Amino acid sequence: MKILVTGGAGFIGSNFIFHMREKHPAYELVCLDKLTYAGNLETLGSVMGRPGFRFIRADIADREAVYGIFAAEQPDVVVNFAAESHVDRSIENPAVFLETNVMGTQVLLDACREYGVQRYHQVSTDEVYGDLPLDRPDLFFTEQTPLHTSSPYSASKAAADLLCSAYQRTYHLPITISRCSNNYGPCQFPEKLIPLMIANALSDKPLPVYGEGLNVRDWLYVEDHCAAIDLILERGQVGQVYNIGGHNEMKNIDIVRRILAILGKPESLITHVTDRKGHDMRYAIDPSFIHRELGWLPETRFEEGIQWTVQWYLDNRAWWENIISGEYQDYYERMYANR
Ligand code: NAD
Ligand code: TYD
Repeated sequence: MKILVTGGAGFIGSNFIFHMREKHPAYELVCLDKLTYAGNLETLGSVMGRPGFRFIRADIADREAVYGIFAAEQPDVVVNFAAESHVDRSIENPAVFLETNVMGTQVLLDACREYGVQRYHQVSTDEVYGDLPLDRPDLFFTEQTPLHTSSPYSASKAAADLLCSAYQRTYHLPITISRCSNNYGPCQFPEKLIPLMIANALSDKPLPVYGEGLNVRDWLYVEDHCAAIDLILERGQVGQVYNIGGHNEMKNIDIVRRILAILGKPESLITHVTDRKGHDMRYAIDPSFIHRELGWLPETRFEEGIQWTVQWYLDNRAWWENIISGEYQDYYERMYANR
């Protein structure tokens, strides 16, 4: 079995590579990644050059390069993690989100048609469903919830999902799609809420909470997401969408307070800043379908997952300090100065 993992030098893709090597040591994994600002070869240090793993630098939107890789590698399965993934960046510059998330997905789908695969899996997000109101805790996203996007990021992910479904129906491409809630864990780029707050707290810098911090996200430990995708590849039904989430809804402000408490830092570091444009209020997944069909359940409780995550950032200071010392400084200035 040979799996092409696109975007494997990013947060979830790298964790997926580690998961698959542990669970399926006989599989061959090929990682295709453009190494954008969010891709980091250091993250893959422990697998680089090892038998059963190969890294190829390429852009999923580059048709010639992608076809060349398919011709040479003949993957049995493709799992597409490659994406521009940060909502705030999509508000600043939507174009690259369409290029990678939509056109890149189309190139991968065409390559799958051209060369034939047993499965193409699209890693999508609960953000394609839009948001839920805070005063309706009884509502959840199911696989039947209509797509209704808010940000250029979520719009590009929804467009990609629709393309995948169209290729399944029209060309009978063996496609599955998963839509997961917010992930946290090791190796997440420090522009996202949890690692950004950990990094700032460790440097005694202000913790920029958008608005009142009352927005709710449904947090899942990254390993649980990887295990769900593994299961979908093994036993998922072609043409099916699977929602992935662990019923772990939390307000942003409570997450930030939890991080400060773990690190023993004062709440006076919290700074409320101007809200994100079009900010989604609440995400909440109903994961009963994947539980019923495939027996998947999350294994990590938030209390332990957040402890492990904070510990990972403490133990791997060089990894994130290296990131935030470079081009990221300009991003941080643009995004947060005078906010
Ligand atoms: P990330 O930003 O950490 O990593 C993205 C990776 O894709 C990077 O390694 C980057 O170099 C690579 N990449 C970007 N553009 C590329 C291109 N044109 N060609 C090849 N490689 C390219 O993202 P992540 O958080 O690991 O998310 C992975 C996937 O999971 C995305 O599709 C995202 O939409 C989805 N997702 C993320 C979350 C979350 O909470 N992070 C939740 C649900 C779904
Ligand atoms: P983020 O990690 O960007 O994920 P997403 O927007 O895809 O859910 O943000 C999670 C929540 O945290 C979201 O409601 C925005 C908020 N947030 C802040 O309050 N401050 C920040 O500096 C960041 C990056 C996010």
